[in-house]
Amino acid sequence: MSVRLGVNIDHIATLRQARLEALPDPCAAAMECIAGGADGIVCHLREDRRHIQDEDVKKLRALKTRIDLEMVATEEMVKIARKIRPDMVTLVPEKRAEITTEGGLDVVKHRNDLKKVVQKLQDAGIIVSLFIDPEDAQVEESAVIGAKFIEIHTGKFANAKKDNARMIELEKVGNITQKARMIGLRINAGHGLDYNNVKEIVSIPGIEELNIGFSIIARSVFVGLKQAVVEMRRVIG
Ligand code: PXP
Repeated sequence: MSVRLGVNIDHIATLRQARLEALPDPCAAAMECIAGGADGIVCHLREDRRHIQDEDVKKLRALKTRIDLEMVATEEMVKIARKIRPDMVTLVPEKRAEITTEGGLDVVKHRNDLKKVVQKLQDAGIIVSLFIDPEDAQVEESAVIGAKFIEIHTGKFANAKKDNARMIELEKVGNITQKARMIGLRINAGHGLDYNNVKEIVSIPGIEELNIGFSIIARSVFVGLKQAVVEMRRVIG
C-alpha cells in the first residue's frame, strides 16, 4: 500500500496575507492538490492567525476532502475543532516567535492537559494525532494518554547537513516507527521533507501518511501546484 500524501497549504495563505487580498484562495489550492494526487489537505490554524484564517478552515471543511487541522492544545482551538470537525487534528506546540513549528510536543511534561484535550476531541469523533520528536518516552506517553496516531517530526533528519548525522536521524525515525507500531499507534511523519529526502522516509515500513508543505508550495511557483503535487506523488510512489 502506498504512503498517503497530505499537502499543507499554509503558505498559500501566507502569500494572500502578505497583501491582505482574497487571492490566492486556499480552497482553490486544495482542489489543485487533490487533482494532483494528494490524499488530504493539512492546514495549521495558528493562534496569531498569521496565514490560515478561521474562515479558511470552514471553507476547506465544506470541500469534503480529508482535512487534518494542526493546532495547539488550547480551549479556543478545541472549541473551533469541535465545531468544524476535521477528519484529524494534529496537536502541535506553538511559539509566537517561531517561523515554523520547531520541535515536537512534550507529551511527558504536559500529559494531564493533553490527555483532556485528546479526550474532548475524540468525544467529538475527531481522530487525534500528536506531533512528537522521535523519542521513546514521547511515543510511550502518547499511547498512554489515548492518542491513536502520532506524527513523527522529521525536521532533524531533514536539516542534518552531514551524511552521518542524517543517517542517525533516519534510524531514529525508523526505530520509533517500529516501536509505535508495536504499542498499537498509527504513524504519520512530516516536516522539512522535500523531493529528495522524502525517498528515505518512504522506505521506512509502517508510516501511513506524510505531511508536506513548504517544498511543494515552493516548487509550485515554477511548475504550478497540481504539477508540484504530481511530482511529489511520483517520488513517494
Ligand atoms: N507537520 C507538521 C506538524 C507541521 O507543523 C508542518 C509545518 O506546518 C508540516 C508537517 C509540514 O512541514 P513542511 O512545511 O516543512 O513540509
